[in-house]
This record gives sequence, structure tokens and C-alpha cells, in this order.
Amino acid sequence: MTQMSNDAAPGFMLTENASLLRHNTLRVDARARWLAEITDVAAIPALLEQPALRDTSKLLLGEGSNVLFTGDYDGVIVTLKTRGVEVLPDAGDAARIRVAAGEHWDDFVRWTLAQGYAGLENLILIPGSVGAAPMQNIGAYGVEVGEFIETVEAFDLRERRFVAFSNPECAFGYRDSIFKRHPDRWLITAISVRLPRTHMPRTDYAGLADELKRMGIDKPAPIHVADAVVNLRTRKLPDPAVIGNAGSFFKNPLVATAQVEALRREYPQLPSWPASDGTSKLSAAWLIETIGFKGLREGDAGISNRHALVLVNHGHATGAQLWTLAQRVREGVQTRFGVMLEPEPRVIGAH
Ligand code: FAD
Ligand code: EPU
Repeated sequence: MTQMSNDAAPGFMLTENASLLRHNTLRVDARARWLAEITDVAAIPALLEQPALRDTSKLLLGEGSNVLFTGDYDGVIVTLKTRGVEVLPDAGDAARIRVAAGEHWDDFVRWTLAQGYAGLENLILIPGSVGAAPMQNIGAYGVEVGEFIETVEAFDLRERRFVAFSNPECAFGYRDSIFKRHPDRWLITAISVRLPRTHMPRTDYAGLADELKRMGIDKPAPIHVADAVVNLRTRKLPDPAVIGNAGSFFKNPLVATAQVEALRREYPQLPSWPASDGTSKLSAAWLIETIGFKGLREGDAGISNRHALVLVNHGHATGAQLWTLAQRVREGVQTRFGVMLEPEPRVIGAH
């Protein structure tokens, strides 16, 4: 293993033949030809001009909580370790905060709550970095981060310059954004959020109001909503510190409402939620549980017995083994329901 840092202009560390084991929460033991860890955004252009990297393929990575490496990566993995939170000039009706991509998302949410800013409480305890949050427009308990993002700052690897995206330019959707549609083009370096001064707690997601009632809270403040979400998430989802996983492995599929009605005739319990343009959202977890795959295990690759949407690594599963199991799940759901599940994490190296 060779390590290099740029003494003339410090701000990054390059490691050759790097282990990715600590860089993905599915705990896949893959390697990268190069790993570039950046501590100063100003160093990005110089880093990318390094002879070893200039013409090498590049993969942008945060904390690896939404990726599956199906094999080694023959290129350079670029990750930001930058820190910093800055309160920007007030917008009157909203606080504006800029935060560096390398911060932990959950630390940032907790910081906003400790400062008395509301809005992000439903998004507490989502693993990963701030820089990845706009990527799939992280969402939980009825809220998506795109509702609060004012600006996304990035380095354009194609044009080799720093750029900024306004909220509409990010094209946020369910687990979707312009960044997700063009992976590895823009290295997100910072985001700015706008947190409204008058804020109504959002407690309509199934189970949230009940959890608050159980906690004895009638009029929830943001911190109570955060505590309730922490309770629900801790109960429902396996902890990556205990068992390797990447959260939901599939998106909840959007299906034509007519097809949902036809399915409901056969499966009266089928959960669904109205979505846009004559479609409904189905619960991928319910589909997977109904075909009997919850808790399934093939070697060390498995489906969580706590949540049917979570692919788990019981120990030493390879990325290829996890991907094989994921495809078996997809085929099972497709055969029984005629619904194609799409992976939610980025699957790297699958053909
Ligand atoms: P990574 O996994 O490193 O990368 C994810 C994607 O973003 C990749 O395509 C990568 O190329 C890209 N990327 C990362 N950083 C940058 C950057 N700076 N610039 C450009 N591209 C970048 N997600 C939800 O939405 N809601 C949830 O409730 C949720 N719960 C989860 C629970 C668990 C237990 C786990 C393990 C995951 C969960 N996730 C959830 C998924 C994950 O937490 C999010 O997708 C998170 O934003 C990923 O952050 P990361 O830094 O680990 O990104
Ligand atoms: N369900 C089952 N079996 C299970 C688990 C759930 O049938 O084992 C059914 C139940 O009917 C339940 C429904 O699925 O009511 C929904 O379950 P849950 O509230 O856990 O939500 P989800 O749709 O499975 C989504 C996100 C999560 C997010 C939660 C809460 C996607 C792909 N996943 O999961 O995000 O935390 O809602 O908002 O949209 C992630 O993206 O990694 C992630 C964890």
C-alpha cells in the first residue's frame, strides 16, 4: 500500500490499492486501485490533475451507506472529509445554513435541533454524509431533504470548475435528483438549507403519531418528533454497526393505479399509497415478505428478519453474493406480482 500526500498544497491523501471494508456499511471486502480522501475543497482541481488519476475512471463516495461493491474498483474513489457548518445571513422567515459535504448527516440534524432550528427532525438517524443527501433526495417519515435545500455546491468533473445548483435545478423526486441521473459528474462539496421559522410538525406518517402518543406527547415540538423517529427507526431497522446493510435495498415501486386495483382483487391486504400521474406506490417490503423471503439466508448474504427490504451481510458475503441474492428477490417479486423492483443503493460493477 502506497500513501501520498501533497506537501506543497495539502488537502488530500491518496492511497493505492486501498481496502474498502471500512468504506461501505454492507461490509464488502473490496479494494480500490486508488482512494483519494480530500480535506480541503480547494485541493480538488490539483488532485484530479495528478498523473496517476488524470485519465483514470472516478467514483464519488461518501460514507458508503448506500452502495454495493460487486467487485474491486479499478479506478480512483474520491471522498470528501471536509467539515464546517456556517449560519448564513437570515432570510427573515427562515434560517439559512451552509454545511460541508464531509459532515455526518445525523450530526448536522442534531446540531440544527440543538440550535432551535426546526424542519429536519424527521430525517434524524439517516446514516451517511451531508454531500450524499441531495444525491437520492434522502427521505423518511413523510419528509424529503429536497424540501429544505436552497443550494447545492459542486465541482464539475467534466468541465473542471466549481458550480452551484438552485433547488429547481436539482430536479428532486422520490429517491431521485439530477445528481443521481448523472453519477460521478458532480462532486457535491456543500449544501445550504433553508429552515422556516414557523414550522408545523409532520406526524402523519404511519406509526409516528402513535409513537408520540405512546411517549405521552400531545403537542410535539421538533425534538419530540426526532425522539419518536429515533425510537421507530431503532426498532425497525438493523444497525449497520451490528450487521452489515445499506438500509432499504429496493425503492418502493410506482405502479399504474389500474394494475394496483387488479392486484388488490387477489391480495386484499396489499398496502398502497396514491402517487402522481395515475400511479400508486407499493410497499416493496410487503411484496418481499409476502413471497416468503423475509429472513432468507444464502451463505452470509441474507434478507433481514427485522425488515424485508433490507439486504444484510451476516459476515463475509462478497458483493457478488449479495447481488445474486438481490436478483433472486427481484425475480421472485416479478414472477408473483408482475412488478419490477429497482435497487435503491448504487450497485457498482454489476453488468
Ligand atoms: P454513499 O453511500 O457513499 O454514496 C451514495 C451515492 O451518493 C453514490 O452514488 C455516490 O456516488 C454518491 N455520492 C456520495 N457522496 C457524494 C458527493 N459528495 N458528491 C457526489 N456524489 C456523492 N436513505 C434514505 O433516503 N432514507 C432513509 O431512511 C435511509 N435509512 C437508511 C438506514 C440505514 C441503516 C442505512 C445503512 C442506510 C439508509 N439510507 C436511507 C441510505 C443512506 O443512508 C443514504 O442514501 C445516504 O445519503 C448515503 O450517504 P453516504 O455518504 O453513505 O453515501
Ligand atoms: N412492511 C412489511 N414487512 C416488513 C417491513 C415493512 O410488510 O418487514 C410493510 C408494512 O406494511 C409497513 C410498510 O411496509 O407499513 C412500510 O414500512 P416502513 O415504514 O418501514 O417503510 P418502507 O417503505 O419499508 C421507507 C423508506 C425508508 C424510510 C422509511 C420511513 C424506501 C425505499 N424506504 O421504507 O428509507 O426510512 O420509509 O420513511 O422508500 C432507505 O432509503 O434506505 C430507507 C431505510
